[in-house]
Amino acid sequence: ENVPESRIDYVYKVVVIGDSAVGKTQILSRFTKNEFCFDSKSTIGVEFQTRTVTIKGKVIKAQIWDTAGQERYRAVTSAYYRGALGAMLVYDITKRQSFDHVARWVEELRAHADNSIVIILIGNKADLVDLRAVPTEDAVEFAEEQGLFFSETSALNGDNVDSAFFRLLEEIY
Ligand code: GTP
Repeated sequence: ENVPESRIDYVYKVVVIGDSAVGKTQILSRFTKNEFCFDSKSTIGVEFQTRTVTIKGKVIKAQIWDTAGQERYRAVTSAYYRGALGAMLVYDITKRQSFDHVARWVEELRAHADNSIVIILIGNKADLVDLRAVPTEDAVEFAEEQGLFFSETSALNGDNVDSAFFRLLEEIY
């Protein structure tokens, strides 16, 4: 992360959205700090973290915005989505409801974000295999219908977190 500003070729704003407690904040801290916190507190308001990566020889600073999934904290949609080039739409593979709400989040993106925004659907908590409530095929089908990329991740053990972000950033590039 100690890359001088002068060496950065592009800054990409990415937003992370999805229901409360699906693991948005933990996916972000896994990607930016390689950390995970078991007693993660619900996000209040909006925060962002950054990580600088190299893609096809270009230095790209990903500025990743995290907001509360809880309805009562979500007043600032337009400002939140403004300028976003990518979105990570997260559900919890153990909570069917969080997947059932994904269509609503896509609608919100289509209403407030730029038309060209790149979206990746993320089924998080893939480590909780015995508690799975959302079959992978359901998500694959939905993602294909909607033209979204898709991956299952675990912020807990780190599986697929980096690759999901890289896929999104490469697609933006
Ligand atoms: P809001 O800020 O309320 O929108 O929630 P959030 O989506 O940011 O969820 P957060 O990252 O705070 O995680 C919620 C809970 O799920 C915490 O107890 C995390 O420790 C747990 N959690 C997050 N990711 C994973 C994961 O990949 N596996 C498991 N087993 N637990 C996870």
